[in-house]
Amino acid sequence: MKLQTKRQPLVAGNWKMNGDAELAIDLQAALSNADLSGVDVLVCPPMPYLHTFFGADLLIGGQNLSEFNSGAHTGETAGRMLKETGCSYVLVGHSERRTDNHESNELVAAKVASALDSGLIPVLCVGEPENIREAGSFFEYVAEQIDAVVSKVGIESFAQMVIAYEPVWAIGTGKTASPQQAQDVHAFIRSHLAKLDNEIAEKIQILYGGSVKAANAIDLFSQADVDGGLIGGASLDPQDFLKICLAAKE
Ligand code: PGA
Repeated sequence: MKLQTKRQPLVAGNWKMNGDAELAIDLQAALSNADLSGVDVLVCPPMPYLHTFFGADLLIGGQNLSEFNSGAHTGETAGRMLKETGCSYVLVGHSERRTDNHESNELVAAKVASALDSGLIPVLCVGEPENIREAGSFFEYVAEQIDAVVSKVGIESFAQMVIAYEPVWAIGTGKTASPQQAQDVHAFIRSHLAKLDNEIAEKIQILYGGSVKAANAIDLFSQADVDGGLIGGASLDPQDFLKICLAAKE
């Protein structure tokens, strides 16, 4: 049980390129009877399934957006289009995009700016790969990822943002950061932002991501600076996702 509850918890499901229309129906059915008051529940399905959540009592978000607002960019989606489609959030800088699509800190910062311009809340994903964790330089690594965004959009924009700390070595691997490892980085991120603006640092939701499951969610979410989770694999099972959402209420 957390001593301070200044921040509303947020649990976000990142389907990645998984799921189908049937999962959207099953998920809504599983969540519809639960008392999720006090928890923000966000679902980020692949874009073609966003419409299946229209009218549901859930927040929806994109998994990516273009840094541009319009133009000849085949296959891309602008933030304003996500907004018009009912999204209020968008994931930015997920490690799979940083790796698979070579998204640099600068590009991620440009996408955050574009999301903010479109009236979306960017969920800025940061986190170190395994070699950086082993070398012990993960605080510096994460700080650099955040600083690139601060220099582009300014610290005041973080009042309309969420941060997700997702150690790359824990994503989809079944290796979860221990609650203490997660707390250490979350507290570091908050103190790093506090050097620029204490109020924003205190208010921003910082999610943990990386093999969060129904079995470990309570321990992770009970850490003082962990304000919920970004859930990949376990968000594809409606009952597991529900349990994780309920864990954020504990
Ligand atoms: P995972 O993914 O829960 O399957 O580890 C988390 C994420 O990539 O957002």
